Amino acid sequence: MPVFAHPRTSRPHLRTVSISGVGSYVPERILTNAELERMVDTSNDWITSRTGIRERRIAAPDEATSDLATAAARRALADASIEPAQIDLIIVATITPDMMFPSTACLVQQKLGAVRAAAFDIEAACSGFVYALDIGSHFVASHTYETVLVIGAEKMSSVIDWSDRNTCVLFGDGAGAAVLQNRPEAHGLLTTCLGSDGAKAGLLEQPAGGSACPATADTVARGLHFLRMDGKETFKNAVNAMVTAAQDALSRCGLTIDRIRCIIPHQANQRIVTAVAERLQARPDQVFVNVERYGNTSAASVAIALDEVVRQGRVQRGDLILMVVFGAGLTWGAAIIEW
Ligand code: UT7
Repeated sequence: MPVFAHPRTSRPHLRTVSISGVGSYVPERILTNAELERMVDTSNDWITSRTGIRERRIAAPDEATSDLATAAARRALADASIEPAQIDLIIVATITPDMMFPSTACLVQQKLGAVRAAAFDIEAACSGFVYALDIGSHFVASHTYETVLVIGAEKMSSVIDWSDRNTCVLFGDGAGAAVLQNRPEAHGLLTTCLGSDGAKAGLLEQPAGGSACPATADTVARGLHFLRMDGKETFKNAVNAMVTAAQDALSRCGLTIDRIRCIIPHQANQRIVTAVAERLQARPDQVFVNVERYGNTSAASVAIALDEVVRQGRVQRGDLILMVVFGAGLTWGAAIIEW
């Protein structure tokens, strides 16, 4: 008998939602700090000491977000031993869709051959995967769908100003995916907590290209189609929001941090991860970090990390995982999964 509360299944009309397969994909091309030293006024010392990042992956010019998403999805489907035709719904979390419309999820549906699936995108920036997990899980819990494919995928290199040292050293490309199903014998998602604060939307944005500021020769000349960030303010907000979200999720389940086997925080900056872990009084061995290899991959970040945690055998059946995320919007969230 679990000794923690189970907010989902304590409501009898909802069923357990399990993650029956995970997968991830990162592009082959590695961009190192040494290469960035030749592109902008930066240094390996500055990047590693201020962020922990050593390298990041960059998609090929002909590789779009839907390609990264499809590659990660194929691995998750293989892991779950299911065929594309079994998928009822595809949700892609991304801020770098292939185009404004149609959705990247529809393009993934076609590439996978998921002929029965409905498909849509959601946008919650770096928090996107936990938002998508939450949305997708409700379709399974409520008996609406049997199999939901949730993907976090980004080609951040397509919205980066490669002459801006404040941002170009931070981000990378990649994708991660999870298959959600009800497997009666398996464990599942215990809770998700989401939050947002649109009053701070200006801290991290891509100003042009939408309806408020359509792309013109002038917006392109002024670089308004690139990502912009107030790093310092974003940093402070990230730490506070991630700590609060993690605490909310734990208290909903009647858990304390020592019961968590593996904490998967959004991988934006090693210093943010360390500050969050300290405030939660987590031990370093509980916290998974791969930011040194991929940089900040936005919505893909915790999805790639979850796949690596599973592949590396860092969790066994029954272990508890805490995912905690933060991103533009502002948005934040946490999820607790009994593996
Ligand atoms: O995923 C969504 C959430 N995103 C985040 O959570 C990112 C949050 N922010 C951060 O991770 C950090 O704020 C940064 C890594 C972006 C910046 O670190 P910081 O310690 O906050 O540095 P700073 O912004 O205070 O900048 C310190 C100095 C500045 O120079 P001055 O004005 O003091 O002369 C910057 O111009 O470092 C300079 N700087 C750099 N120097 C060398 C900024 N970027 C670079 C660089 N190389 N790449």
